Amino acid sequence: TSAVLVDGLGRRARDLRISLTQACNLRCRYCMPEQGLPIMPREELLSADEVIRLVDVAVDDLGIGEVRLTGGEPLIRRDLEHLIEGIRTRHPELPVALTTNGLGLEHRAHALAAAGLSRINVSLDTVDRELFATITRRDRLPDVIAGIDAAVAVGLAPVKINAVALRENLPHAADLLQWCLDRGLQLRFIESMPLDAEGTWRRDEYVTAAEMLAVLGERFDLTAIDREDVGAPAERWRVGDGPGTVGVIASMTRSFCGACDRTRITAEGRVRPCLFSDDEIDLRAILRGGGDDADLAAAWREVTWRKSPGHLPADVLTHPRRPMGAIGG
Ligand code: GTP
Ligand code: 5AD
Ligand code: SF4
Repeated sequence: TSAVLVDGLGRRARDLRISLTQACNLRCRYCMPEQGLPIMPREELLSADEVIRLVDVAVDDLGIGEVRLTGGEPLIRRDLEHLIEGIRTRHPELPVALTTNGLGLEHRAHALAAAGLSRINVSLDTVDRELFATITRRDRLPDVIAGIDAAVAVGLAPVKINAVALRENLPHAADLLQWCLDRGLQLRFIESMPLDAEGTWRRDEYVTAAEMLAVLGERFDLTAIDREDVGAPAERWRVGDGPGTVGVIASMTRSFCGACDRTRITAEGRVRPCLFSDDEIDLRAILRGGGDDADLAAAWREVTWRKSPGHLPADVLTHPRRPMGAIGG
């Protein structure tokens, strides 16, 4: 067998995204229910050693070239630094990135960088404190900002900021962009997807990337530039004379599923090839049942072969069983 992971439509997965927990200390309305997701007993979660074993298989048997750690909120895992160090020691050339809400990052940025973290994306929808508290249901904006500052200070550049485009933050979008430009942060606005936990997403209400760009265009001169690479979800613009940029991830209006290069592992160890399809395969059962690397790789290939084409217009309104907080983006 060759060291690649391909689906039935010929797309090759190179980017592995691993959710480390479903727990989170925020409750963003587009992602989590008010009460949070059910708490998973510790033994349900993959251990750091199990994650490292799956990364070995992904790299050695499936040709994965990049890993991103997500959640819920991955900083909730006390063993995150240990995990990153474990991966980097075994695979020194493998980029390991983190997507986080930034809470607690202030005190861990240094250790994360020392453990070998390559890049960091922080979710931040607004720098208006009251609006932040409304969207996330927690008044924690100062802690997030302290976390971002710490990431920059320890040299984790470029820090990317992910903002979900919402009716509420649209009037504040230009302020958020200016704030990011002042700090050398790369801001991306994401179209909200029907992956909220409460089924409140409405097709006729979400803010499109075009609408967001029109609002930003009132204050900034935007010039289109290339994507980082073909499969990258973000389209990008230079702001003014540069060097600052802004991006949009138009998951709904300009679906990039045709070039998808992603594969995912949930916190309880299931491979989930697509955000929008509940078709999964349980690797934890194979791991704990004494399966070898070839068994793990075979199961991973099998579910990947069936990978859904993506969120086609026809099924766009069906909410998958897992909300975003249980996948990690
Ligand atoms: P970079 O490599 O830094 O550009 O990261 P990224 O864009 O892959 O990572 P990040 O976790 O920051 O993803 C940003 C957002 O893009 C996610 O939170 C999702 O909302 C969206 N996204 C990422 N992958 C997919 C995907 O496969 N399908 C769809 N529809 N959206 C995705
Ligand atoms: N639609 C689009 N993006 C979402 N995120 C969370 N929920 C949604 C949604 N319903 C994004 C967050 C974060 C990443 C983990 O996922 O902003 O950047
Ligand atoms: Fe937590 Fe991120 Fe979801 Fe917000 S978007 S609830 S910070 S996982």
